[in-house]
Amino acid sequence: MKITMIGSGYVGLVSGVCFAEFGHDVICMDLNAEKIEGLKKGIIPIFEPGLEEMTLDNVKAGRLSFTTDIKAAVAASDVVFIGVGTPTNKETGHADLKYVYAAARDIAQAVDGFTVVVTKSTVPVGTGDEVERIIRETNPDADVAVVSNPEFLREGAAIKDFMIPNRIVVGIEDERARPVMTEVYRPLFINQSPLMFTTRRTSELIKYAANAFLAMKITYINEMADLCEAVGANVQEVARGIGLDNRIGTKFLHAGPGYGGSCFPKDTLALVKTAQDFGAPITLIETTVAVNDARKSKMTDKIVKALGGDVKGKTVSILGLTFKPETDDMRDSPSITIVSELTEAGATVRAFDPEGMEQAKSVLPPITYCEGAYDAVTGADAVVIVTEWNEFRGLDLKRVRSLVRTPVLVDLRNVYRKEEVARHGFTYSSIGRPSEDITA
Ligand SMILES: NC(=O)c1ccc[n+]([C@@H]2O[C@H](COP(=O)([O-])OP(=O)(O)OC[C@H]3O[C@@H](n4cnc5c(N)ncnc54)[C@H](O)[C@@H]3O)[C@@H](O)[C@H]2O)c1
Repeated sequence: MKITMIGSGYVGLVSGVCFAEFGHDVICMDLNAEKIEGLKKGIIPIFEPGLEEMTLDNVKAGRLSFTTDIKAAVAASDVVFIGVGTPTNKETGHADLKYVYAAARDIAQAVDGFTVVVTKSTVPVGTGDEVERIIRETNPDADVAVVSNPEFLREGAAIKDFMIPNRIVVGIEDERARPVMTEVYRPLFINQSPLMFTTRRTSELIKYAANAFLAMKITYINEMADLCEAVGANVQEVARGIGLDNRIGTKFLHAGPGYGGSCFPKDTLALVKTAQDFGAPITLIETTVAVNDARKSKMTDKIVKALGGDVKGKTVSILGLTFKPETDDMRDSPSITIVSELTEAGATVRAFDPEGMEQAKSVLPPITYCEGAYDAVTGADAVVIVTEWNEFRGLDLKRVRSLVRTPVLVDLRNVYRKEEVARHGFTYSSIGRPSEDITA
């Protein structure tokens, strides 16, 4: 199959590279000329484990190329995927579809012969209808089948998720798209990944319903953590105790500073807006959004409390800035609220993140970026673990103790055990664990 991927970001690039790995001929297209020039030279614009090697291999094999020229790419393709961003419209809370619709117009002008146009971006119900309308309006001769095929990969494990998905969801309205999409995913189908065909609107909703459910599950355990703190129970054991029931499952039950990232915050909000627009509000998700928003500031309160109630003039060391480990993505990371509130309250922040510092610089207030974890903790009045990168799980606490000014550790990811930390002389707070404020 000849495939064009429009948009070469986290989803577009990973999907394009994986399709090439399946043996398809893939062109990854993007408007961002700098990104495309870099990719042509083998420079991968994002941090994603395994992506660089797979990209270089497929370029070498002649199956993968990069371009800014949408016309030539689309004209040469059987299938055109739209993988552009759908950020939150800051004024309305809806998904902003301008990039999707711009791509649809560009595709319409370039298609040559029957072409399957697939929306891989996360888009509200009805977007496929509008994409189809735009294409027909722009070019009445265009022969297209517009399909929905939402992507479920997770940053940090994106290649594995793409190559071994739990399921592939494909929403079609035109039967001609079925054999084409089956062929696109044939290698996965052979590996028994369920390929589920449904209608376009159902497919669009499945993506939001899945993300909102997962966001709700995280928020549920976060509120349970607050209750654990109040009653003296242990949220990790509660999570295990409920998660072993396979109707519930153990995943997404790790209490922490609230969900962030490029998907859950915007997708929950967009689902809330869609549901309100259609007169079928989903109050569970409205509440999830509100609880999660409030949680980030609660984390700041926890840090302030650990520092004795006032952070003015204090130095806080932040370990981890990205919304989760193994990515450089800073979009909607809880660290943004936490760092901003700490600096506003007069703290000096020293931070380190293994991959996210470049992106952090554009979204955080001015802070000191450090060379490594031990550099970041030097002179700190409190060390705060915000993201559970592996290198923060096994810190040499004796060394940390010798570098900090005051031995206070706030562990927003529950990666340490309180006895161990207390043994090294730290005052320790974590999330949802009994008598969590332990002083040595
Ligand atoms: N990031 C994830 O983990 C993830 C997972 C599943 C689904 N999604 C969804 O996938 C979509 C893309 O997300 P992302 O994280 O890859 O975004 P991204 O911002 O990393 O990438 C989007 C890319 O599209 C390009 N672009 C914008 N308009 C264009 C146009 N008209 N023509 C060509 N290129 C254009 C941008 O330059 C950018 O490189 C979103 O809808 C998102 O919700 C993301």
